[in-house]
Amino acid sequence: MVKESLQSMYEQAKEWVLEAGGQLRESIKTDVLVEYKTSVADLVTEKDREIESFFVSRISRAYPAHHILGEEGINKQKLSDPKQGWVWIIDPIDGTTNFVHQKQNFCISVALYEQGEPRLGFIYDPIAGELFHALAGQGAFMNEEPLPRLTETRVEEAVIGINSLWLTPNKHFDFKPIQALVREVRGTRSVGAAALEMAYVACGRLDAYLSLRLSPWDFAAGLVIAQEVGAVTSTVHNQPVEVFEKSSVLVARPGLHQVITDTYLHSSSPRR
Ligand code: IPD
Ligand code: CA
Ligand code: CA
Ligand code: CA
Repeated sequence: MVKESLQSMYEQAKEWVLEAGGQLRESIKTDVLVEYKTSVADLVTEKDREIESFFVSRISRAYPAHHILGEEGINKQKLSDPKQGWVWIIDPIDGTTNFVHQKQNFCISVALYEQGEPRLGFIYDPIAGELFHALAGQGAFMNEEPLPRLTETRVEEAVIGINSLWLTPNKHFDFKPIQALVREVRGTRSVGAAALEMAYVACGRLDAYLSLRLSPWDFAAGLVIAQEVGAVTSTVHNQPVEVFEKSSVLVARPGLHQVITDTYLHSSSPRR
């Protein structure tokens, strides 16, 4: 695949993301059908399905040989080996709870991987009008503005994104090291949309973001964008994140990432 065509996929996908975001922006003015998935805390709306269907129809028309992995499973194609060929990874609404309750602080997350390698990432907050995007190797942007490379900071001066769930007793991990981290940082924030929180690390609004259990559509685009500004990304065990598997994720400024993994997280226990 020559570079021009990746560039044209970038431009094309950007248009789709902006169009889908426009649909979501309109939808908050009306009532939206909300259902539960696995529990009353696990919401899905008709818009989650509509936006994913929008991407599936656009991608399959433009790139019939590409695969699509979306949270809502709209695409019927089976993905036998996700590390083969081109795969789009889509979270049609990341932060569905925010979409329903707050009508803000949600985003669309779209990534494109080729043979398991990151190529494109888009994270779009249509209410704030902020599109974070990157083509691997060409830097990351917020709208038209290039994002500067991240500099180091100390734990005592860091503001980190974390869901308070990870500070409570939990079958997945030992929460005490994370409590110690939370006690020592300058502050914590919990937006409730993993992709957006990764974008906030990329643009410097957060110094780190940590989650112990996410799915590929939550972090695929964030990994592309964060890596372009020099953020360090890994599992909480400082292993590379396998993009097609459920995983813990730590994304942080350089330096801070190492302090967090070495000093605080070495004894937390999720496998990935
Ligand atoms: C959720 C959000 C949330 C994170 C959850 C995700 P969804 O995604 O990113 O911040 O803590 O683990 O499942 O379901 O709103 O797309
Ligand atoms: Ca969901
Ligand atoms: Ca999500
Ligand atoms: Ca979602």
